[in-house]
Amino acid sequence: MQGWRTGLWAAVALVLATAAWAGPPRRYEPISPIPLPAAQDPARVALGRQLFLDPILSRDGSVSCGSCHNLAMAGVDGLPHAIGIGGAEERVNTPTVYNAALNLAQFWDGRAASLKEQAGGPVTNPQEMGSRWPDVVARLEHSPYRAAFQRIDGGPPTRRRVEEALASFERTLLTVNSPFDRWLEGDDGAISPEAAQGYALFKSYGCGSCHQGANVGGNMFQRFGFYGNPFARAPRPVDLGRFNVTGREDDRYVFKVPSLRLAVLTPPYFHDGSVRDLATAIRLMGRYQLGRAIPDGDIALIIRFLDTLPGAMTADDDGAAP
Ligand code: HEC
Ligand code: HEC
Repeated sequence: MQGWRTGLWAAVALVLATAAWAGPPRRYEPISPIPLPAAQDPARVALGRQLFLDPILSRDGSVSCGSCHNLAMAGVDGLPHAIGIGGAEERVNTPTVYNAALNLAQFWDGRAASLKEQAGGPVTNPQEMGSRWPDVVARLEHSPYRAAFQRIDGGPPTRRRVEEALASFERTLLTVNSPFDRWLEGDDGAISPEAAQGYALFKSYGCGSCHQGANVGGNMFQRFGFYGNPFARAPRPVDLGRFNVTGREDDRYVFKVPSLRLAVLTPPYFHDGSVRDLATAIRLMGRYQLGRAIPDGDIALIIRFLDTLPGAMTADDDGAAP
């Protein structure tokens, strides 16, 4: 009488335990889960968010960071080249600000070492916001921001404090808890069998030797064009990559390997925005980075895998810029 009951409860307990803990975490993979953001002063984060979405940083009050890095559009503008102040066109495609905190350096050529160092760049860039710092600081001085800086930093707005606030906000833009990350944590049902197959192909083709780490990219510089010249098809002069920064011949056309975390959401592709669809981008990667023709069926499976990489977009509620 007691025996079968104990047995039944043991079976129920086993089923529950298996459902809650599907398997051990997958630790020895080229990709790791996105970590939770580090704790920061929430008031400074909120100030940074407000500044990010406010065109007050631009010369004529027409452009905010969010105009190009639209938080409701995966942190990009969807254009081949961004349009900045007065309709000025950027040379290169806008990367997303989501997960940028995980990159080894910022910009396609890595010329800014950190988010804090990066944040000041667009403000004075003539193609982006076209301001001068003394003017920006003066505008903030005569706005409600003055009180906010006083409260948070104990002093008036300065260039350094603006950069710190923007960087604090950007450090919170981590797309955690994606289906793929849950799969890495051991939840076998988090991704489809096709996506798992796509991931196996991604590794066996060697994509993971460059696109790796928590950001599936962003942690090394590599030449675009290991096999042949991908620029032969470019419609106009292209960026020189790391060469811009180091002046070394070896660094010509060497770029920061872009993150693939939000790749499915952020066409067009490549630093020059020259490719509209993901399948073509992957086909060109096979040809120029790996010297291989990747069959369409494999490309489709790799896209199924890339579909599982985006996680929660923490700041996408009212990201649209004015
Ligand atoms: C006119 C459009 C535009 C505006 C406005 C703009 N950006 Fe950008 N942003 C870009 C482009 C284009 C790049 C790539 C530039 C490059 O690599 O040379 C970029 C790069 C970045 C990066 C580097 C991401 C990476 O993966 O390398 C960050 C971070 C960033 N911007 C944050 C900001 C912040 C903060 C502001 C506001 C102060 C801002 N952007 C304003 C277009 C814009
Ligand atoms: C040898 C290093 C290397 C390998 C291997 C590699 N990539 Fe790339 N990948 C890059 C670099 C560098 C870029 C940036 C090229 C540019 O924009 O100029 C890039 C860009 C991309 C982009 C465009 C991302 C964007 O936001 O613009 C995608 C998608 C991509 N790779 C997918 C793949 C896939 C899938 C594979 C395997 C089939 C692969 N890559 C193999 C280095 C590599």
